Amino acid sequence: MNIQYWKEIYDSKVVTAKEAIGYIKSGDRVVTGHAAGEPTYLIDTLVENYEMYENVEICHLVSLGEGKYTRPEMKGHFVFNGFFLGAGTRDAVAQGYANYSPGFFHEIPKLFRTELPVDVALVMVSSPDKHGFCSFGTSSDYTKPVADCAKIVIAQVNEFMPRTFGGNLIHVRDIDFIVEHSEPILEQQPAKVSILEQKIGKYCSTLIKDGDCLQLGIGSIPESVLPFLWDKKDLGLHTEMASDGIIDLMLAGIINNKKKNVEPGRSVITFVMGTRRLYDFIDDNPEISMNPVDYVNDPVIIAKNDNVVSINSCIQVDLMGQVASESIGLRQFSGVGGQVDFVRGAAMSKGGRSIIAILSTAKGGTVSRIVPFLDKGAAVTTSRNDVQYVITEYGIALLKGKTLKERARALIKIAHPKFRQELKEEYERRFLEPYDYVTCDLRRSEKKEQPAVTEE
Ligand code: COA
Repeated sequence: MNIQYWKEIYDSKVVTAKEAIGYIKSGDRVVTGHAAGEPTYLIDTLVENYEMYENVEICHLVSLGEGKYTRPEMKGHFVFNGFFLGAGTRDAVAQGYANYSPGFFHEIPKLFRTELPVDVALVMVSSPDKHGFCSFGTSSDYTKPVADCAKIVIAQVNEFMPRTFGGNLIHVRDIDFIVEHSEPILEQQPAKVSILEQKIGKYCSTLIKDGDCLQLGIGSIPESVLPFLWDKKDLGLHTEMASDGIIDLMLAGIINNKKKNVEPGRSVITFVMGTRRLYDFIDDNPEISMNPVDYVNDPVIIAKNDNVVSINSCIQVDLMGQVASESIGLRQFSGVGGQVDFVRGAAMSKGGRSIIAILSTAKGGTVSRIVPFLDKGAAVTTSRNDVQYVITEYGIALLKGKTLKERARALIKIAHPKFRQELKEEYERRFLEPYDYVTCDLRRSEKKEQPAVTEE
């Protein structure tokens, strides 16, 4: 048989965007492709025709788009249900006309296969290869698993979508409707790393050794570590997200994945979010393995690598070490994403370490991120039982294995100096002893090698 037999199948499925969205019915659950994999043309067409629908549920995690379906005039037509919020969606949730659903990232595909069956997957894929396989390119994550389980798959075929290796392909026979529309895919510019953030990146790099396997989370702080990795050797990458920062380290062979146990020689990633340079870098690159999130973020898979180091950020840490990363009080800001997946994967990995890295203050220095109590209503993302290292521009605090008093002291030392006094007062109220009193558990920790580096 002619190996290009699939072309007829492909041609028989090509429709206009308007025709394709006509297969969505009121009351359906529609899941859209993730981050740079957002099928913008299909979504715009859906939103333009909003009056055709009642109560269509739209679900996704990270979105780089505008989230037009969350606008007040869409009420009754679309209801957004996010598993991670961003600039385009968080106001709608705060104002009560959209929803947030908590859930570990690695469990999202299972949710869509079981409790939350998917009527329609709206995805974006590359053009087919000579065998008829399209690639999900930048976004394997939940996008590929959802396309595998949805009742109807509508795909925007976009020549700008890179072709990536790994478990990230769909054959044209498994797509129900194809909309050909090529346009530049969504980009995110590299975060600007401030001088204070550089200090944090430098502290993080002191905990990274040659041969470690890295996960870098979302936001400018995890990125701040990348410039400090140039003196390392044989680093590996097994990460939920990757940004432009990985390119030069991979080109230079500093990230070469030689020491990894899972897919040695390849950077294992579930989605990328960056500029066109990154999308061109991953295109047809055998050193990049893009895979679904229920594999990449599964703590058991993560832990098969030795010396996993996870670096994530947060909004607040309380004096016990409870980490709030996704809400500011009751206001849902983002989501758990893969933070806990990787904190736990790192904890289970032989020689693994997990880091929560933050600026000591927020809102232009007016509030401390290290606080006696989390803001009322804040969700605990990483529990005090899971947290290991916390780093600010003032140093490193090791919390795992420490008493509540030791934790509080270690955190106060890395808080911004202008907030230390009130934290010390809370210490004294809570532990019924002067902050400067050398307790027996402090003596105990001083006997051990202190990894905490702190600066006044
Ligand atoms: N009190 C009040 N507001 C605070 C605050 C605090 N303690 N800490 C942060 N904020 C505000 C900031 O002022 C900023 O507000 P703005 O958007 O109006 O400027 C906003 O919250 C974001 O803060 P910032 O720390 O600059 O954000 P970031 O882009 O660096 O992202 C997280 C940090 C924690 C939000 C982000 O890492 C996240 O969502 N983490 C959870 C998921 C995760 O870790 N996934 C990992 C795998 S990818």
